[in-house]
Amino acid sequence: MKYILAIIQPGKLTAVHEALLDIGVSGMTVTEVQGYGRQKGKSEIYRGAEYTVHFLPKVKVEVAVTAKMAGKTVEAIKAASSTGKIGDGKIFTFDLQDVKRIRTNENGESAL
Ligand SMILES: Nc1ncnc2c1ncn2[C@@H]1O[C@H](COP(=O)(O)OP(=O)(O)OP(=O)(O)O)[C@@H](O)[C@H]1O
Ligand SMILES: [Mg+2]
Repeated sequence: MKYILAIIQPGKLTAVHEALLDIGVSGMTVTEVQGYGRQKGKSEIYRGAEYTVHFLPKVKVEVAVTAKMAGKTVEAIKAASSTGKIGDGKIFTFDLQDVKRIRTNENGESAL
């Protein structure tokens, strides 16, 4: 199993949600977050400009999927969230050792 954590532009959440529903993911977690990437939260960097960091609002989407679904999931998030502009975000993929469904005590893929 894989745990996919995507940081996206807030305005892309609906599109990403629909894309993940389309490919049949069984659940997701969404959190409003703040962050910055290479531009340190600035859209333009001037030489010699004072070094300041601005946290920009982003949305974190987390989804646990089978290993088989991981590539498709990353592609779906990418396709739905891409504008081609800076700040589009990142998708991190982690190996997921286990998951337990609390109500039923199932473990592993059948608990997803
Ligand atoms: N190395 C990182 N570690 C953790 N979070 C990151 C990292 N890089 C980016 N993020 C998160 O992703 C968000 C979007 O990053 P962003 O798309 O601006 O990355 P970037 O590397 O600057 O790419 P781009 O040049 O396309 O803007 C950031 O606001 C931050 O929340
Ligand atoms: Mg950036």
